[in-house]
Amino acid sequence: MMREVVMECRNLWKIYGDIIAVKDVSLQIREGEIKIIFGPSGSGKTTLLRCLGLLTKPTKGEIFLRGECLTRPGIKLNKYRARIGFVFQHIWLFHHLTALQNVELGLRRVLKLPKEEARRRAMQALREVRMERWAKHYPAQLSGGQQQRVGIARALAMDPEIILLDEPTSALDPELTGEVIDTLRDLAKEGRTMLIASHEMGFAREVADEMIFLDEGTIIERGPPEHFFTNPRTERARRFMARLIKQTMRER
Ligand SMILES: Nc1ncnc2c1ncn2[C@@H]1O[C@H](COP(=O)(O)OP(=O)(O)OP(=O)(O)O)[C@@H](O)[C@H]1O
Ligand SMILES: [Mg+2]
Repeated sequence: MMREVVMECRNLWKIYGDIIAVKDVSLQIREGEIKIIFGPSGSGKTTLLRCLGLLTKPTKGEIFLRGECLTRPGIKLNKYRARIGFVFQHIWLFHHLTALQNVELGLRRVLKLPKEEARRRAMQALREVRMERWAKHYPAQLSGGQQQRVGIARALAMDPEIILLDEPTSALDPELTGEVIDTLRDLAKEGRTMLIASHEMGFAREVADEMIFLDEGTIIERGPPEHFFTNPRTERARRFMARLIKQTMRER
């Protein structure tokens, strides 16, 4: 049986002046699916994710969450935002708050949970990313990888129906990407629904149901990981894959 579509966009566009950041993108993510978006710098990955996360208003096109259209005029987006988790490319945490307080914030402010309940859920989320030992630490006392895991815990704590992750390891030194990838691998095993912008090809090959190659704002090619690893159809995808694989070899 086909699983339910959690999130979908149809013919999505985002235009900034004379820059077309997202050009006619359509995609669907079903319950428990993991899709990886990849493509060169400036290809529109962040913009696409920000549109889907309701952080940026698309210029044209439709976004659906469980069949409900979120781009119709007059819709109040706040309650839908709480159902979509977002992990940022450039890690941001409040520096004057501990890891635990950072994770609690949305639970208190957005979900309006009572203090004890918020604390319990925040600790549970920190446990899921194996960060409960660092609950009382401030961001400055954590490594980049640990900070990003707190960022992931913050998204998880809200119990979102889908998590959008924008290059969660790109701001990290290569030796720190591994721990974040391990966390994502755990989430994949739990069956979380995720759309991830990432160039971690080993990870993509292992967990992705579909890989989506974006260039100049538009989907050039898509398919299961094996398709891209063995036989990309377009010259652009072939060249980009070759570059990524070479880069991975160098980092090893
Ligand atoms: N707020 C904005 N105002 C104007 N142009 C923007 C804005 N945000 C993005 N752009 C432009 O849209 C295009 C896509 O940018 P985007 O950040 O989505 O790419 P990306 O694939 O995430 O790149 P990277 O791999 O470097 O993170 C770029 O040309 C960028 O300059
Ligand atoms: Mg980006």
